[in-house]
Amino acid sequence: MTKKLQSNDLARYKKLISFSQDLASTLDLDILLQRIIQAAVELTGAEAASILLYDERMAQLNFQVATNFDPKLRGIEVPVESSIAGWIVKNRMPIIIDDTQNDDRHFVQVSQSTGTTTQSILGVPLISKDKVSGVLEAINKQNGVFTADDQESLMTLGAHAAVAIENSRLFQQFDLIAEFVHELRTPLASLRTATHLLTHPKVTNEKRDEISKKIEGEVVRLSNMAADFLNIARLESGRDQFNLGVFNLKTLLQTVSDLIESLAQQKGLQFELNIEDNLPSVSGDGDKINQALVNLLSNAVKYNRPGGSVILKAKPVPDGVQIIVSDTGVGIPEKYHNQLFGKFFRVPGSEKHAQGTGLGLSIVKRIIEGHGGTIQVESQPDQGSTFTIYLPA
Ligand SMILES: Nc1ncnc2c1ncn2[C@@H]1O[C@H](COP(=O)(O)OP(=O)(O)OP(=O)(O)O)[C@@H](O)[C@H]1O
Ligand SMILES: [Mg+2]
Repeated sequence: MTKKLQSNDLARYKKLISFSQDLASTLDLDILLQRIIQAAVELTGAEAASILLYDERMAQLNFQVATNFDPKLRGIEVPVESSIAGWIVKNRMPIIIDDTQNDDRHFVQVSQSTGTTTQSILGVPLISKDKVSGVLEAINKQNGVFTADDQESLMTLGAHAAVAIENSRLFQQFDLIAEFVHELRTPLASLRTATHLLTHPKVTNEKRDEISKKIEGEVVRLSNMAADFLNIARLESGRDQFNLGVFNLKTLLQTVSDLIESLAQQKGLQFELNIEDNLPSVSGDGDKINQALVNLLSNAVKYNRPGGSVILKAKPVPDGVQIIVSDTGVGIPEKYHNQLFGKFFRVPGSEKHAQGTGLGLSIVKRIIEGHGGTIQVESQPDQGSTFTIYLPA
């Protein structure tokens, strides 16, 4: 008996070490979170696991991932006051609940988030540098009840996980800030030149007006950059919440079209909207989907050619809807297709067509994937581009 226990302990210990090494080997937050919940399930013999991250500044708990997770729920806020996770954050202690239905602490359940009904829970705080950064929960022990050993293993995994999450966040922030500062240099340099020219005693009124316009343009560009930057930073940290709801896709497409049609007209482009009947209703954040479509359509306008056209189409497909944005513009060489959705990426030479930061498509991708959808590009130089979105119904 004793011998059996020891070999169990050893197996657990070995597993823990290998999981911890695994966690230390990635800085990608999404991959990391997936690995953590998988390790939690394996270590504790649970049916599922989930992670919530805690934002100390906002005193807010946000759901991040779970086994069989509906990605739409990412970022959804969980009440600190009345949830199990909130209790763990406040008390900085693990908890085992054998029967959540009959627990008299009256926690609000987020069991719909995992697609499994929650019977039992083992939850531990994720603590790094004395700060609670989140909660790791193992859900539904498969045989019997969660034990003290399970709790100890999950605490240890949690400690490693918290450090790895913290590192990944810091790295992400640093990476993004470094790129942003790099991008700031161009508009700042031109502002500097412009303001310097303005102080020149011999500058004519005409020249002065021209310089003022230039300054205004650069300031607009800087503030757009700042807005995009904040957008992507929020989306990437997983702290941006999608406001969940069911929206009318047809109305949304029409609103977006009205906006783009006038932009297209100003540039002498044709705009066409083509919505098939029987579009399914889509659930998610209508404002975010709107933002994604505006980004795609404004690219289709920006990188177009005189006399060209922009087409927005939507049609039902099995289990969802397809939205297609196509244009007859300058197109994108194949070798850049897999970099397009990266942050700050612009196809070389794009400056001559239009100003931009290279953040638009990375925001689009985050939003669409955050809704459980996909986005693909087909494009050839001098022929045009087609971006195809799939959203689940
Ligand atoms: N429809 C399109 N046709 C041709 N090139 C495109 C198209 N859409 C995007 N691109 C290329 O992909 C790059 C990245 O697009 P993205 O929208 O991310 O950034 P951007 O338009 O340069 O800046 P912004 O952050 O203002 O959107 C663009 O700079 C452009 O080179
Ligand atoms: Mg763009």
